[in-house]
Amino acid sequence: MTAADLKVLSAAVEIGLPEPLRLLHITDTHVNLPGPGNPTEEAYTENFAAAIEYAKAQDLFVVHTGDLTVYNTPENYAFAKRMLSEVDHICIIGNHDLTLPGKVGHNDPVMGAKVLPEVQAYFEHDLTFSSRIVGGVNFVSLNNIHYRIKPWQVERLQAEAKRGYPIILLLHIPLFDSEEAKIMADKGRKCPHMLTPPEQYRAVYGEHTWARQCADADTLDAVRYIGSEPAIRAIFAGHLHERHDGICDCGKRQIITNGVFQGYVREIMVY
Ligand SMILES: [Fe+2]
Repeated sequence: MTAADLKVLSAAVEIGLPEPLRLLHITDTHVNLPGPGNPTEEAYTENFAAAIEYAKAQDLFVVHTGDLTVYNTPENYAFAKRMLSEVDHICIIGNHDLTLPGKVGHNDPVMGAKVLPEVQAYFEHDLTFSSRIVGGVNFVSLNNIHYRIKPWQVERLQAEAKRGYPIILLLHIPLFDSEEAKIMADKGRKCPHMLTPPEQYRAVYGEHTWARQCADADTLDAVRYIGSEPAIRAIFAGHLHERHDGICDCGKRQIITNGVFQGYVREIMVY
């Protein structure tokens, strides 16, 4: 795998910037180096290196929307951090980033809360909420890997909206999009893996998955706010290992990109 082998998607987001901002949206690299308790045949390091080479060659700002690693190990994070250090970037975490080898603690909020400080130590920015202005756009990231958004995160988001910059919201787990849910169901995927699935999906998901993915009242309020906030102009997300560019059910433009582990990157022009 080299930069020339990448499958390059594209998108344009119009938000009225005086100067366009070109960026590379990457997600779900799933770095998976062999280590104790983790025999593996595919490390996806070449894919990650190819994506970074592409960004450097095209002079693109990099936005990574989570699942840098498939398991939280020092080896995986060392590699991911080395790759990201080569480019100007923003990254957020995904559900895999808090999972231990052997899939221990996968999607478990209790284990996730225990592991988070360890993972946080690899990063300078707050993994639960952060904001950075690049090219006149406020990129706000918000950790939603357990299918929840907390009231304090909404308060921070409201404060960001008051700053007056257009916001692009970075999420690992996309907001619910009926059109994409239908596409995934048609492909035989039983579970759309998106935030705030409507009640009619309960039977499709099965009770266990429903319990994990169905929204609580706070998360429903949060998504309503996101949909109603004019400063939020678009959402970039990952997690699905699929690509989609549409309007999610809350009314916001949402761009989802396939994983780097699958060989995909997406060049986005914000203008
Ligand atoms: Fe992933």
